[in-house]
Parts: sequence; structure tokens; C-alpha cells
Amino acid sequence: MSDKLWGGRFAGATAASVEAFTASIHYDSRLYKYDIAGSWAHATMLAANGLLTDDELEAIVTGLVAIESEIEAGSFSFRQDLEDIHMNIEKSLVERIGAAGARLHSARSRNDQVALDLRLYLRDECDHLTHLLTAVQKAFVVLARSYLGQVMPGYTHLQRAQPVLLSHHLLAYYEMFGRDSERLADCRKRINIMPLGVAALAGTGLPIDRQHVADLLGFPVITANSMDTTGDRDFAIEFVSCCTLIQIHLSRLSEELVLWSSQEFSFVTIADRFCTGSSIMPQKKNPDIPELIRGKTGRVVGSLMALCTLMKGLPLTYNRDLQEDKEQVFDAVDTVSASLAITAELLANLQFNTERMEKATRTGFLTATDLADYLVLKNVPFREAHGIVGRAVAFCIEKGLELVELTIEELRQFSSVIDKDVFEVLSIQGSVNSRISAGGTAQQRVEEALDLAELNMGIKS
Ligand code: ARG
Repeated sequence: MSDKLWGGRFAGATAASVEAFTASIHYDSRLYKYDIAGSWAHATMLAANGLLTDDELEAIVTGLVAIESEIEAGSFSFRQDLEDIHMNIEKSLVERIGAAGARLHSARSRNDQVALDLRLYLRDECDHLTHLLTAVQKAFVVLARSYLGQVMPGYTHLQRAQPVLLSHHLLAYYEMFGRDSERLADCRKRINIMPLGVAALAGTGLPIDRQHVADLLGFPVITANSMDTTGDRDFAIEFVSCCTLIQIHLSRLSEELVLWSSQEFSFVTIADRFCTGSSIMPQKKNPDIPELIRGKTGRVVGSLMALCTLMKGLPLTYNRDLQEDKEQVFDAVDTVSASLAITAELLANLQFNTERMEKATRTGFLTATDLADYLVLKNVPFREAHGIVGRAVAFCIEKGLELVELTIEELRQFSSVIDKDVFEVLSIQGSVNSRISAGGTAQQRVEEALDLAELNMGIKS
């Protein structure tokens, strides 16, 4: 006879290869805290509804507490032949307290139990990631404040386009990571729904109170359909898709840090303790951290693809395929949390090379659009103004000059409406500060955005 918790109908033992193939304990042991919390709530509800005596409940709770401290101390021995975290804990409980332990699984199945554990785990991880996102946002706000007023070229197509404030560029990332937090908060709403008590797939005839379990575990509501509940992993896919966007944002930032720390740009210096060298080229200082973050994006995108593919052909309710969800979720959590944490640290150790940035705004005709706008204000239609400035730029390229270096006479060759006041328009500061439209890069707008960000981050009251 099998000694497994489900062994009753089996005459022979499970093949060792099958035990090894089906086991998930080597990774789902990570859910132990949530499994124990779920069992505590379930037992409490069973006792309140006459399915356990007070003594049995007490024995169960004492047993669960002991198991939890053994797991935490590293002295609990997990058994592969018991498959997963649910059965390892339950079996150990029965061994410790006997009959009372054997009553715990009334009105519950592993199908709703694993859904509960994963929801509890992901609810915590939403909060953890939100916390890490806030740290990254704060780092951007601190940088934006300390470099306020610093100009740099803004790029489109990675070609110099128009001058912007460095703080404006930095606050763009503040916005991106803010959206990531909002997405997590929204995803958390659908994670925060209590699944336990739907049992295997159809509900139970035993007198239980699912809302009581929800109350004990801090869930505002319970799931509505037992069949949907056991087969639903939408919440996990949503969560990993939030992770994917976070990692994509980190990857874009990393790409800029790699570029900006190259000799070609030299816009930023990453502190020595955040770089590594080359084993052959003595002069090298490599931006490995942003490179690795960029590279790890593939893992998170991969996890999302794996989860979507896992779900696409599944009939309703629980199928063992679902056991494949956890490693993807765990890897996404680990990758994104480690990347966020190191990014916050890295940002706090960045130094921008302000002179290089300022110098880079002086070449590349960054104020060409300003000249066109100037002509528009002098009543020249924009398309015509565009042509005039284009010809002036071509003239500059031929002479090896910048627009601001042309004399008023040279400029007037292209349009007679140009006056001396044009030079203010052609200056970098003038250009930046003229962009006062909402969301623009004018110092006044950036300061407003920064004040608001500091208020939101609790940096300033
Ligand atoms: N280890 C399983 C999982 O992660 C738990 C549920 C198993 N349920 C079952 N009926 N075999 O999905």
C-alpha cells in the first residue's frame, strides 16, 4: 500500500522516475508561509462551523507553528515523494498531531489551496515591487533636483534634435515607473480575491463559510465560480506582464546608461564599484550592471510567453500543467526585484558630466526648430519657414558653422523678416525656456513637475 496522502486506491508504489518528474517541492517550498497561513485560516473557519473541535483547532495551530519555525530554521526535511509544499506540510502535521491533522483537508483540495497560496504570495510581491519602484522613482527625483538647469541634447532616432533639460529626461523615467506602480495596483485587485473552499472544482457540501476565510486572510471578496477559480491563472499572467513592462523600462534605461557611459558620449560616469574590468584589456571599465539588466529582460519576457503558452489550450478547472506556472512567476519576481534594487543603488551613484552635455548642445543645429517657430511668429507659414531654415542649415554645413554663428546679414539672405532678436531664439537656454507648453522642457514646467514628484514621493511636504 502506498503511504501517500492520496494512496488509498493504489496497490503499488509510485515509480521513482515519476516521483522525480512530478515533484514541485524543490521550488514550491518557497510558498510555505502562505500555505501555513491558508491552513490556519481554513482550520479556524472549520472550527467555527463545527467541523473541528476547539482542541483539534488548537493542536492544528500548534503543529503549524512548529512546522513553520522548523522550515525557517532550515531543519524541516522536505520529501520529494510527497510532491509539493501542500502535502509536505499536511503529512508532517498528521505525523505530529495525528487525527486532528487528518481533518484539516475537509472542504479543501490542493486545487484551491495552490490557487490561494499563489494569490497570497503575489499579493505580497505586488507590495514589495511597488516599494522597489518607489525607491527607483525617488532616485530619479533626487537626480532631477540636483541637476536642475543642466541642458543636454534631446534625441530622436538617436540624432541630436532639440535642447532639453537633463532633469526633464530624468523625470520621463519617473513617469514610466509611476505607471508601472499603477499597473501593479490594478493587477493586485484581481489577485486579492479569495479562492479557498471551491474545493476540487465544484464546491463542497460541507457547511463552510468562505467569506470567513477571506476575512481572516484580509481578502475583501471571494471568487464567484468554483470551476473558474481552480483553473484561473489570469492574475499570474497579469502580474508577470506587469513585471515584463517594468523590466522593459529598466532595459531602456540601461541602454541609455551603456551609451552615455561610452567614450563616444561620456555623458555619465558610473561609480567604480558598479563596474567591472576586462581580464585582458587593462584600460577597460565596463557597465556590466546595465548590460545584465538589459539582458535579463529576455528571461522576464520568456516567463510571460511561457505562462501564456501554458494556458492557451487548457480545458476548464485544474490540470497538472498549472504546476508549471510557479517557476516562471518566481523567476520573474526574482529578476525584476534584483534589477530594481540595483538600479536604485546605481542611480544614487551616478555622476553626469555636465560640461560634455552642455558642449553637445552647441553643435548639430539643435535650435533649427526654434528659428522656424520664430519665422511663424513673424507670420511666415510653417512649411515655408521649414524650407527657409533647411536652406540656412545647408549653408551652415557648407561653411562649417552653427546657426548662431551666422551674422544677421547672412541670416537675412534666407528671410528678410529676420531681425537681431533672432539670436535670443538661437541660444540653447532661450530654446529650452521657450518650450513652456504643458509637459514641455522649459525650466518653469520642469520645476513644477519636480515639485509635484517630490510631493508624491514624500520628499517634500
Ligand atoms: N503541486 C500542484 C501545483 O502546483 C498542486 C495542486 C495539485 N493538484 C492535484 N490534483 N494534483 O499545481
